[in-house]
Amino acid sequence: MPVPEHGGTDAGPPVLCDFSTNAHPLGPPPAVLDAVLAADRQRYPDPTYAALRGHLARWHDVTTERVLPTAGGSEAIRRLSLAALLDGIQTVCVPQPGFGDYAAAAQALGLKVLGWPDVATLLRLMDSAGPCLVWICDPCNPTGRTLDAAEWVALDDAQRRTGSRLVVDQAYEALRLVGASALPPSLSEQVWRLVCPNKALGLTGVRAAYLLAPRHDALTPRVAALAASWVLSAEGEALLRAWADDEVQEELADSHDLLREWVQAQQDRLASWGFQRMPGSVTNFWMARLPALDASDDLDPDLDLDLDLDLDLGATRRKLASSAMTMPSRPTHPQPASQTHPFTAPQTLPLQTQGANALPGPLPAPLNKPLPNPLPGTLPPSQHVPPATHAALLAALRHHGIKLRDATSFGYPGWVRLSVQTPAAVMTLVSALHQVLGPHHARTAIAPKDPS
Ligand SMILES: Cc1ncc(COP(=O)(O)O)c(C=O)c1O
Repeated sequence: MPVPEHGGTDAGPPVLCDFSTNAHPLGPPPAVLDAVLAADRQRYPDPTYAALRGHLARWHDVTTERVLPTAGGSEAIRRLSLAALLDGIQTVCVPQPGFGDYAAAAQALGLKVLGWPDVATLLRLMDSAGPCLVWICDPCNPTGRTLDAAEWVALDDAQRRTGSRLVVDQAYEALRLVGASALPPSLSEQVWRLVCPNKALGLTGVRAAYLLAPRHDALTPRVAALAASWVLSAEGEALLRAWADDEVQEELADSHDLLREWVQAQQDRLASWGFQRMPGSVTNFWMARLPALDASDDLDPDLDLDLDLDLDLGATRRKLASSAMTMPSRPTHPQPASQTHPFTAPQTLPLQTQGANALPGPLPAPLNKPLPNPLPGTLPPSQHVPPATHAALLAALRHHGIKLRDATSFGYPGWVRLSVQTPAAVMTLVSALHQVLGPHHARTAIAPKDPS
């Protein structure tokens, strides 16, 4: 079955430290989790979702007709693409790099797909292609970048001039950690908006999202009519109802300070391992070029390197294992709200106080499924085989239950997208890098180079 490539759960063993999806690392706010768990699964939801749509309409200050629940953002993307085709649209413009589902939906319908790397190019494409469906992801997955006010104004003009439809995917708006959206309120009334709360709520397994239609668009009834009956499950309905709530939104906003701190610490830590950050992300994920695999290529002779080739991995690990360090806290069983408050740091480790060569805690036991060849990081140091390719590096990490999102499918081979995770998860990743790459890769005082 052809499926666009995604991060997160795959056909392999469980992912223990998941840097590959962009869900909130602290999991769901208790009120939302409670609401989802209390959803009535024994009855169909109201097929018109009248109460939910009314609630969301008031929340967004739009009419109820403009709120269209969907079975996740991915279903919204498919449905809107089909509606556009039925309305005579032949061309779809997608951000490049961008979320793969926009192009996958268009291709499945035989629509022409044009990639746009920047707004200037998009404006030219819109002028030459005629009316088209234009996807804008703001903040953008995978780069985390955002559009500025002048770009929105230019797109507003282009939309009117060309009769195109703009869709603004706001899947990561609630995880924006820097600044605010520059989408002008007047334009937000003229575009389709896609809201996917399951990432910010740390509940990506619940397939629920919604579209906000423009104030006037003849396409709206068609998009509504194309929905399957009961498109939203009872859990999905409960999630969306709980999302549009002042206290939940406050809790989310309150978690941003901690996420900002964690992103910075994660980027600093991984920079010392040769991960080169792509600048510009305003959100909870970022792209990085993977470290060079040949250590001799990797080293800049002008830099003051503090290499420790004689690290006693076993001793350091034993020392740290006996300390209070725990594995990343990702609750596997929901607990009652009264006993847990996920938007509180589970444990803050002294990341900044440790040198780049300091060895963190124990790795999770390698997962059961044996891989065919000796895998980097699975042999004793004396027989260490460093990975020859980035694919081998990512496979070795995956074998240890750590998943980074390979950015090859975004058109960035040799790059990954990483979401912010708990400091303990970062330490687990660093420990795995130690084993997989060998300690000589750890470096200090190397500023990430700007890859652009
Ligand atoms: C930009 C963007 N939009 C939409 C989606 C779809 O999310 P979901 O179908 O889980 O709502 C994703 C998922 O990763 C995404 O990254």
